[in-house]
Amino acid sequence: MQVVKTVSDVREAVAIARDGGERIGCVPTMGALHAGHMSLVEDCRERSDFVVLTIFVNPTQFSPTEDLSKYPRPLEDDLAKCREADVDLVFTPEVPMLYPQGFETYVELQHIPNRLEGAHRPTHFRGVATIVTKLFNIVQPDVACFGQKDYQQQTLIRRMVRDLDMPVEIVVCPTVRERDGLALSSRNVYLSESERRSALSLYASLQLAQERIQSGETDLHAIRTAMHDLMASREYVSPDYVSLADPNTLDELDTPVPHMVALVAARVGKTRLIDNLVIEL
Ligand code: PAF
Repeated sequence: MQVVKTVSDVREAVAIARDGGERIGCVPTMGALHAGHMSLVEDCRERSDFVVLTIFVNPTQFSPTEDLSKYPRPLEDDLAKCREADVDLVFTPEVPMLYPQGFETYVELQHIPNRLEGAHRPTHFRGVATIVTKLFNIVQPDVACFGQKDYQQQTLIRRMVRDLDMPVEIVVCPTVRERDGLALSSRNVYLSESERRSALSLYASLQLAQERIQSGETDLHAIRTAMHDLMASREYVSPDYVSLADPNTLDELDTPVPHMVALVAARVGKTRLIDNLVIEL
């Protein structure tokens, strides 16, 4: 496995692989890799011959109130996991390599970033769209894998790739859950045992929506209220939002449609968690 820090080293390694007829796969991450990330690598491995995993804690997707310096950076552990998963190349650039002095070009979407997570983190998705564009330009992958867990992020990336004619296939991989349903997240380690029990209410509220919609209920307003109340009834949980939306635009729906998505966010103690479930009729 090669570990490189510069854009030119990535380009050189990828060019050699491509000249050898290999299909290039990319898994962009911010490191602190867990089983959710490794399932993206596994999926990417099946769809490509040369897997590039990027580890970069992207400063432009953090707001001034979010503590960028506290973001975990267990690089040696991450590299061990990559080796075990047969990653071919890990790209670990420093900030000045990707944001040199004088950097002033950003990628911004008009509509998708303004709601849900974007309403809480106004500049977050501009940072995500910009860094993902840069990583695609550097790696030039044939295929890139993202998790469904960050539903709004993958919606925005799929839209951006279509809008800007980027020649990359986007694969969205299912959320990896603990046995009891809790979605894997690097933030779960911050939950106490009792907070963790209460955190199960996020998935429970999504399942409640699925059951009621699939059993024919059409009053989405009543279902949103029930989802909110279920979460709020658990100790330590304060819901941030509850959404029943179009899966591509994330516009809120008035009535059920054959393919839709339920999304929730809540604070559990001091930890903010998100989850979602695609609902098919
Ligand atoms: O999902 C993440 O880890 C990040 O938002 C991403 C896509 C790697 C961009 O920094």
